[in-house]
Amino acid sequence: MTTTKAFKLVSGIALTAALGMSPALAGPGPDEDQLVINEDIEIVTEAAAPAHMEYVDTIYSGWRFREDDTQVMQMDDFDNPAMIYVDKAIDAWNTVEGAEEKSCASCHGDPESLRGLRAELPKWNADKGEVYTAEMYVNDCRTERMGAEAWGWNGQDMRNMTALISSVSRGLPVNVAIDGPAQETWEKGKEIYYTRFGQLELSCANCHEDNYGNMIRADHLSQGQINGFPTYRLKDANIVSMHNRFRGCIRDTRAETFSVGSPEFVALELYVASRGNGLSVEGPSVRN
Ligand code: HEC
Ligand code: HEC
Repeated sequence: MTTTKAFKLVSGIALTAALGMSPALAGPGPDEDQLVINEDIEIVTEAAAPAHMEYVDTIYSGWRFREDDTQVMQMDDFDNPAMIYVDKAIDAWNTVEGAEEKSCASCHGDPESLRGLRAELPKWNADKGEVYTAEMYVNDCRTERMGAEAWGWNGQDMRNMTALISSVSRGLPVNVAIDGPAQETWEKGKEIYYTRFGQLELSCANCHEDNYGNMIRADHLSQGQINGFPTYRLKDANIVSMHNRFRGCIRDTRAETFSVGSPEFVALELYVASRGNGLSVEGPSVRN
């Protein structure tokens, strides 16, 4: 991205001007808290930025930017409101559905058999010849292997299942591949990340790369990492998908947006995931 440097220099001003705010107060940055879930799973919330990131030295989980009372909800599964949805997904996992009269468990055994998968998603699917997200794998199994109906990308059943798939990989380092056959998709995602959208002419990078740690309205800006997805949002009292979050962020720039599940958002997901290589899988997390 040759244009990145130029708008990095103006983006702090652009951001505050575009949002009609008074000049941004230097924010408090990420805090120093440490995340251990269930006194057992140690979560890496800070790591050296992967080599492909040009303008950031250190990457942080969004957890480090939340208030203590939000952070604490994620430290024990009994307090994490997202775990209800994981339990629902375990029920679905064991439920026979579709013409083939199979459940996920019939073929995959325990959900723990998918441990490690979330850390590598999205990834190149050689059979299909495209980059695949969790949602795409789940729906292929439903339609092609169970003879069941596809779930909506953003439907509750799908969000629950992606929460279950994340939960069994918690603590493992995010490690998505950006080379080989995935590279073209990754480049496309990178381009979207640095594109300025909407009347406000803001890119993902303007907020999450240039201004993380600062306050925007009442919100403490993070790096917009996706290692915690799906996240339980207190505001929605439910878990939200990555693509739904992307859509919301783009809408906030007053732009028309790509749809959930679109090739553009799959590419963006791969790129954003790769910016978190080295952080731990943390989902389902809790955010405001
Ligand atoms: C009839 C057997 C069968 C059923 C039923 C089934 N799957 Fe699969 N699933 C497979 C096979 C075979 C693969 C591809 C081989 C592999 O990578 O493990 C796969 C792959 C996957 C993957 C990608 C795994 C990876 O490592 O790339 C996910 C995620 C997945 N299934 C989830 C589910 C879920 C969730 C359900 C229930 C809604 C389900 N599957 C039902 C057989 C099945
Ligand atoms: C106008 C500023 C702004 C822009 C532009 C923006 N976001 Fe955000 N984003 C926010 C705010 C505010 C939040 C909530 C606080 C936080 O977690 O950073 C947020 C949250 C997120 C989160 C949740 C992080 C977590 O840990 O739960 C992700 C992921 C995200 N943004 C991705 C993106 C992507 C990708 C783009 C570009 C398509 C984008 N954002 C554009 C302001 C922005």
